[in-house]
Amino acid sequence: MIVILILLIQIKLIFTKDPAYIRDYFHLISTTEKPLPLRKYYGMHHSSIDFYPGTMNVILSVPHDGDLRSNLPSRPKGACRKLNSSNRKCYYQNPCLSPQFQMDIKHCKISRGRDVNTRLLALALRYEFKALFHFTPYVIINRLERIKVDMNRFIDQGTFYRKDNMHAWMRYHFYLRHARELIVKNKNNYGGKGLLLDLHSHDHHERWVELGYLLPSRQLSRKGYNLKHSSFASYLTSLFEPIDLVSGNKSLGYFITKYNYSATPSPIFPSPPEQSYYEWGYIIEEYGRYGNFSAIMIESPARNMMNLTKLYKYAKSLAFALHEYLIAIEVFEVLATSENLEQSQITKQCNLSRQISAQRNLFLLLFFSVMSFI
Ligand SMILES: *[C@@H]1O[C@H](CO)[C@@H](O)[C@H](O)[C@H]1NC(C)=O
Ligand SMILES: *[C@@H]1O[C@H](CO)[C@@H](O)[C@H](O)[C@H]1NC(C)=O
Ligand SMILES: *[C@@H]1O[C@H](CO)[C@@H](O)[C@H](O)[C@H]1NC(C)=O
Ligand SMILES: *[C@@H]1O[C@H](CO)[C@@H](O)[C@H](O)[C@H]1NC(C)=O
Ligand SMILES: *[C@@H]1O[C@H](CO)[C@@H](O)[C@H](O)[C@H]1NC(C)=O
Ligand SMILES: *[C@@H]1O[C@H](CO)[C@@H](O)[C@H](O)[C@H]1NC(C)=O
Repeated sequence: MIVILILLIQIKLIFTKDPAYIRDYFHLISTTEKPLPLRKYYGMHHSSIDFYPGTMNVILSVPHDGDLRSNLPSRPKGACRKLNSSNRKCYYQNPCLSPQFQMDIKHCKISRGRDVNTRLLALALRYEFKALFHFTPYVIINRLERIKVDMNRFIDQGTFYRKDNMHAWMRYHFYLRHARELIVKNKNNYGGKGLLLDLHSHDHHERWVELGYLLPSRQLSRKGYNLKHSSFASYLTSLFEPIDLVSGNKSLGYFITKYNYSATPSPIFPSPPEQSYYEWGYIIEEYGRYGNFSAIMIESPARNMMNLTKLYKYAKSLAFALHEYLIAIEVFEVLATSENLEQSQITKQCNLSRQISAQRNLFLLLFFSVMSFI
């Protein structure tokens, strides 16, 4: 009886696991390069930021996938609001400084959830970009938990004015700004053009990739696009029609759809459902529309992120989509032709480890069966 049970558990483990080559892929992309050795802070053994320097004019930012324990104080579940007042303003104090104020979790809620695996998505994109463009984007990853610091909010809401948390917030933005300066100052290589992609995930039930440009969903559903307040650099609006850039043939949504994922705004879904769409983020507001530099928030459906097999396919498709998009909107010039694009080297290594892993599973199965007889 026990033998059968253990056998069943083993078989289930083997079949519900992601294939070994997928796990090896993510192992490879997270270990093949080391981030710059930045100094360590906040009682941790690891730096609070993983900074991977780039060789092209694209920055990938990952503010919400931190999981490292630190000695920083936590942010509360809600900010303070004046009691019995029609004033809707939230005050980021912990605890509230006046007895007339109280924590209001309903109207001043503080989001503290994690966008799991957006870090792996960024590293996979970096790896795939290397194969597609022969260049690598900057990757800047926050490792602190969001309950401590939120890099995608203004500093008051992101830190509640705690000294060390403010320091951590500034460090993240120092590196983003630094990378952007390196790009826009490098006029010889990129003409000062560049793009920041801020990577997030969401669990809206449509499961579309949501693209944020600071355009409210009401404006998207009217299709009367005014890109003056968007996160697109102004040179883009002189090259392309607003409708093409946002939901037409020159939109990121168009290219993501081409590689088999639903996205909004896109030609098929030009506007999102009003109740659930993230059009705004502090990071795209702060870093976009700066000279010839743009920013886009990519909110991926959590379903594509939680399972490594799905994440692998999604990351590859997103890399292809971004590759064509960056060329179509003339952020990046084609240097590589399709002939000299190499197969990414992963295939060979995967084959090898797939065999080893299959043997290991078989061995474990035998081991447990023998153990249960004794
Ligand atoms: C992930 O999804 C694939 C199917 O797309 C499935 O075969 C695999 O077992 C899933 N992995 C886990 C860990 O659930
Ligand atoms: C606020 O309103 C509640 C009833 O809605 C009342 O019990 C309370 O005393 C009021 N507090 C203040 C400070 O006015
Ligand atoms: C996209 O391009 C195709 C083919 O060039 C064209 O038929 C279609 O009208 C274009 N769509 C938009 C929205 O521009
Ligand atoms: C997209 O889906 C179609 C039909 O299912 C398939 O033929 C095509 O190969 C897919 N493309 C990619 C890039 O996965
Ligand atoms: C932006 O690009 C245009 C042409 O692409 C160039 O003329 C202009 O000087 C650039 N602006 C900045 C601020 O770099
Ligand atoms: C990987 O293995 C498959 C068979 O499982 C084989 O057809 C293929 O050529 C191998 N690829 C490499 C790069 O060794």
